[in-house]
Amino acid sequence: MENETKPGSLWGGRFESSAADTVAALSKSTHFDWRLAEYDIAGSRAHLKALFSAGYLNNDEAERLKKVLDQLLERVQAGSFAPKEQDEDVHSALERGLIEIAGAELGGKLRAGRSRNDQIATLIRSYLKDEAEVIDQLVRELIEVISNRAQEHLGSAMPGRTHMQNAQPVLLSHHLLAHTWPLVRDLERLRDWRVRVDVSPYGAGALAGTSLGLDPILVATELGFSSTTQNSIDGTASRDVVAEFNFIMSLIGINLSRFAEEIIIWATTEFGYIKLDDAYSTGSSIMPQKKNPDVAELARGKSGRLIGNLTGLLATMKGLPLAYNRDLQEDKEPVFDSIDTLKLLLPAFSGMVATMKFDVDRMERQASAGFSLATDVAEWLVKQRVPFREAHEITGKLVSYCEKNSLGLHEVPDSEMAKISKFLTPEVRDVMSVSGSIKSRNGAGATSLPRVLEQISELRKSWVRK
Ligand code: ARG
Repeated sequence: MENETKPGSLWGGRFESSAADTVAALSKSTHFDWRLAEYDIAGSRAHLKALFSAGYLNNDEAERLKKVLDQLLERVQAGSFAPKEQDEDVHSALERGLIEIAGAELGGKLRAGRSRNDQIATLIRSYLKDEAEVIDQLVRELIEVISNRAQEHLGSAMPGRTHMQNAQPVLLSHHLLAHTWPLVRDLERLRDWRVRVDVSPYGAGALAGTSLGLDPILVATELGFSSTTQNSIDGTASRDVVAEFNFIMSLIGINLSRFAEEIIIWATTEFGYIKLDDAYSTGSSIMPQKKNPDVAELARGKSGRLIGNLTGLLATMKGLPLAYNRDLQEDKEPVFDSIDTLKLLLPAFSGMVATMKFDVDRMERQASAGFSLATDVAEWLVKQRVPFREAHEITGKLVSYCEKNSLGLHEVPDSEMAKISKFLTPEVRDVMSVSGSIKSRNGAGATSLPRVLEQISELRKSWVRK
């Protein structure tokens, strides 16, 4: 007959035997949820105030318990208090610690009116709020690096592509900056998400709320939340805020991955647009000449892992009846992993982008390849009041003539151009240059230099590191 609550456990009174070893092993979460220990202690501190203000602790008890929590926090931070084999989760381990310092009489009072269900739902939010700031800064750092590279290479042209085929010349800066705006939107997503994470479920108890007259708003304010959940069942049972955060982490990963894919292609001998710095590439164990773009490949690979973390969590949530179910313990590892992954990846990625060298001459030379100025010819014809449908047709014929005669657009003699169309007068040659083409694309958001400078200044104003 056991019928008692053992150290490291928070239940036991109604049980006649303790959990089987296999069950204890399955149940355990200290190996991952211990990173929430300081948040749990902060929750206890706030809860203590609520118990005191509702009259469940006298002045002396409250003071003593506060000191015990301070000591416990010190021990946790120093690493002298850590979970033991018998501890089920972060909450049970910390209660063991509390009782070791305060004794069962005083230490046992703190649990009144709260449940691990509302605790964990709150802790994960507090933790994510903090980590979101770290990720936010790392993303800003990358935006800053890309903007600096764009500023450095103002005026260099490169082939812009659609379907991976040469399409129209663009400024290298414009192309690089195109990778910042999705990241800006990720920062905006984090900003929107902050409104939803900023709500405390503490005080929801197991699911139905407290009968002890404890004030959830007091706890929320202590913990730095703006408000409390409107519904205690929802507060303890929902993890959509965690999933949404993981979605944003996945998108950041995907945005890095798209850039990574280009970097990998650009670094090939065939493209030869960039050379990666030695510090951001790796060698081969067998091929002495190799310099591999592993940082970019890991970015691409890890984005798969981030997506997996999101879909895993969504699958966990799907079909859970209200309110709390133990399945929800599975929310933590995927989100922790996404955070750890991006904290590892983003600085390396920024370093790679900051140090790669562009072969701007090579890019420039290829900017007009593949008849990439054909659209400029067609648009010049439109300016001569030729309907676009006809202009498209005329330019198509010009390209076809060039292909048959192995000529570039600008190499076609005046007489041949005139044979293709009377509208193709020698003045068309003015737009058959990469620099002319780029300069002419001056609408909002276009590739001309003034528009690129606008982007850089907007990014520097609002989206680089604070
Ligand atoms: N370790 C649990 C989790 O992460 C804490 C809540 C457990 N609650 C319970 N009644 N078993 O979700």
